[in-house]
Amino acid sequence: MEEPEVLRGLVLGLHHIAIAVEDLGASRELYLDRLGLAGGEVERVADQGVDVLVVMAGNQRVELVTPAAEDSPVAAFLARRGPGLHHIAWKVADIEAALATLNAAGVRLIDQNPRPGAHGTRIAFLHPKATAGVLMELVEDPES
Ligand code: CO
Repeated sequence: MEEPEVLRGLVLGLHHIAIAVEDLGASRELYLDRLGLAGGEVERVADQGVDVLVVMAGNQRVELVTPAAEDSPVAAFLARRGPGLHHIAWKVADIEAALATLNAAGVRLIDQNPRPGAHGTRIAFLHPKATAGVLMELVEDPES
């Protein structure tokens, strides 16, 4: 299938992968102490009801997410599927433009408008029915 011209250059790279976990303490032990990854700051993202432990593999980011509220979508994910890969996030330069482009291309979205993400980013999720079962996020990150 030929790629529509408008979609070329939309994704600048992989921003992070996010893994749903039940226990950030156990994650810290696995990712920092056993695997030797760097980082370890926890940030609460109130909008999504999660705490996020960010670890770095070189310059690649892994976000370990755990529910901070009972009504968090991640709590529902853990109850339904258990811990594991939650989503992948693509870096974009201009999230409004990216959402408009995807909308125009008929790609189903969860978020029509960007919401606040961790560490000053703006994010939006695509609908997993539009992305072959993989939950995908767009990230506009002023720091990367
Ligand atoms: Co994410």
